[in-house]
Amino acid sequence: MLRIGMLTSGGDCQALNAAMRGVVKGLYSKTNDIEIYGFKDGYKGLIYSEFDMLTAKDFSGILTIGGTILGTSRQPFKLMRVPDSNGIDKVEAMKHTYHKLNLDCLVVLGGNGTHKTANLLREEGLNVVTLPKTIDNDLWGTDMTFGFQSAVDVATTTIDCIHTTATSHSRVFIVEVMGHKVGWVTLHAGIAGGADIILLPEIPYDLDKVVQAITRRKVSGKKFTILAVAEGAISKEDAALTKKEYKKKLEKRKYPSIAYEIAEQIQARCGQEVRITVPGHTQRGGSPCPYDRVLATRLGAAAAQLIWNKEYGYMVAIKSGEITKVPLGEVAGKLKCVDPASSIIQEARWTGISFGDE
Ligand code: F6P
Repeated sequence: MLRIGMLTSGGDCQALNAAMRGVVKGLYSKTNDIEIYGFKDGYKGLIYSEFDMLTAKDFSGILTIGGTILGTSRQPFKLMRVPDSNGIDKVEAMKHTYHKLNLDCLVVLGGNGTHKTANLLREEGLNVVTLPKTIDNDLWGTDMTFGFQSAVDVATTTIDCIHTTATSHSRVFIVEVMGHKVGWVTLHAGIAGGADIILLPEIPYDLDKVVQAITRRKVSGKKFTILAVAEGAISKEDAALTKKEYKKKLEKRKYPSIAYEIAEQIQARCGQEVRITVPGHTQRGGSPCPYDRVLATRLGAAAAQLIWNKEYGYMVAIKSGEITKVPLGEVAGKLKCVDPASSIIQEARWTGISFGDE
């Protein structure tokens, strides 16, 4: 008998179901003697022992369905060692659930925070195998996370739609793309959607340069300008502040997000009408794109192989097109950011895209 627990944690994304289906299909190809405990709403289900007993049938027909059949929630890593309102030690509670159910392995699908906790559970002696999910693509150790390409598709479609209306009205449009800490989705959707200016957290911008880029377009006869701006885009001035100072400044910010701040500044300086579009959580919703379905299925099958071979303590990953495994201890706590010196940035610059910095 093989007993596995499974949970999805953190913000959802497309292809979570596809990945779980891959794991389960992989395991059932080896044996029918399996018990699957699906923990509800992420680590919460493991802490409070809330789960459903699932079978192969539950994972059938979910390849194309977004979201997660298990539900998810954010359980911040930094609070894992802080007892809950009833004094429950969350880490001990998770270990207790695992041992009570006599699990052979816990399968965790998640992003950065999720991996810190998964690694903690590994250090506490649990058998853990993880899969890299997040639209942000910021998980260290894998070239790609599932969810990323689907989010890029959604954000690109938004920019595509903005093009026609921006042209009709000779406006400046800001499309605010998800990504507080990293700009992967913004960079890829910006290039794919033909944005003229791309602002990323990794490349602090200078508003003068942004205004110059807009003016250059105007002078050359282009009636509109589209900016793809990451949620975490930051000015050079703000990037020079300490983390604490910047946090304080954000608390006092009168705008709902960075796009609104930049819009007001551009409108004041360029005299052109500025509009903002925020696709928001649509970027995490809907059906996974074919690339993500393939990636999630491959990663799921690879996770099943690890479980079957009793190789625990790894995240399955994709590197140079091949599926591989990375020790959890190496993944936890590291962020994969866009490298400002990478070739994709240089190529984008060659095509005339401004990053607002030069
Ligand atoms: O999953 C990561 C992410 O999509 C970020 O890009 C975004 O800023 C954040 O989640 C928003 O998450 P939520 O509103 O669900 O807390």
